Amino acid sequence: MSLSPVSEWFDQLVRERRSIRAYRPEAPPADHIQAMLGCAVWAPSASNSRPFRFLELASPAIRRHLEQAMIAGRDRLLAGTAETKAMKALRNRIRVYWRYAEFMFQAPVLLAAGTVRSHTAFAEHLTAAGLREEGPQPETDRNLSLGMALMGLMLKAQTLGLGTCILTAPLIFMEPPQALPGQPDFQIKCFVTAGFPIEIPRPPAAPAMETFYRTI
Ligand SMILES: Cc1cc2nc3c(=O)[nH]c(=O)nc-3n(C[C@H](O)[C@H](O)[C@H](O)COP(=O)(O)O)c2cc1C
Repeated sequence: MSLSPVSEWFDQLVRERRSIRAYRPEAPPADHIQAMLGCAVWAPSASNSRPFRFLELASPAIRRHLEQAMIAGRDRLLAGTAETKAMKALRNRIRVYWRYAEFMFQAPVLLAAGTVRSHTAFAEHLTAAGLREEGPQPETDRNLSLGMALMGLMLKAQTLGLGTCILTAPLIFMEPPQALPGQPDFQIKCFVTAGFPIEIPRPPAAPAMETFYRTI
């Protein structure tokens, strides 16, 4: 198959993106962050509902507050593990998982990414009319839409020489922040770090297509 240069460039962009967990301290230019968010919000979304929202956590006080909440949550989990062999393994896992969460406070850019109930979904109209049990579809649609937006954001970052990482581990350790002015139903789904990478992880093993795709 012969691909156009743009198509080949896109393949390379997708394959070379890595989750970056160590950043240079300087902040990326503000217009780079705006450009990343600009690509995020053009993502497809269920019924064009655009339920994704991004909250930039720039204030040192907010970051400190989150970090303290995370430390308290981790210590609560560790205190709950008894001194048994099985629990020792779990304690180690908690500590490993912690390393995949705490680095976000060193990132020059830290976003909380989440969703709002920006519209009444079709399924919810049916439920309101008594025609359908309440189900997970509206939430699934919001999560899918956010995932689409995040991919646009990450790939745009890659074109700008910036690294990113999506994190959900912090949410295991703490109660998420809900403060998005004017959006009381903001539900945070993950954090996103961004900045200039100082360490690019080795690529994982190439995915074997037959695991992920077949025709039936
Ligand atoms: C939903 C989701 C949650 C993730 N949570 C974390 C996390 O909490 N901490 C972290 O370091 N990486 C996290 N990652 C990044 C994955 O570990 C990473 O994508 C995976 O190991 C593949 O590596 P790559 O992104 O460099 O290709 C997350 C990725 C996704 C999509």
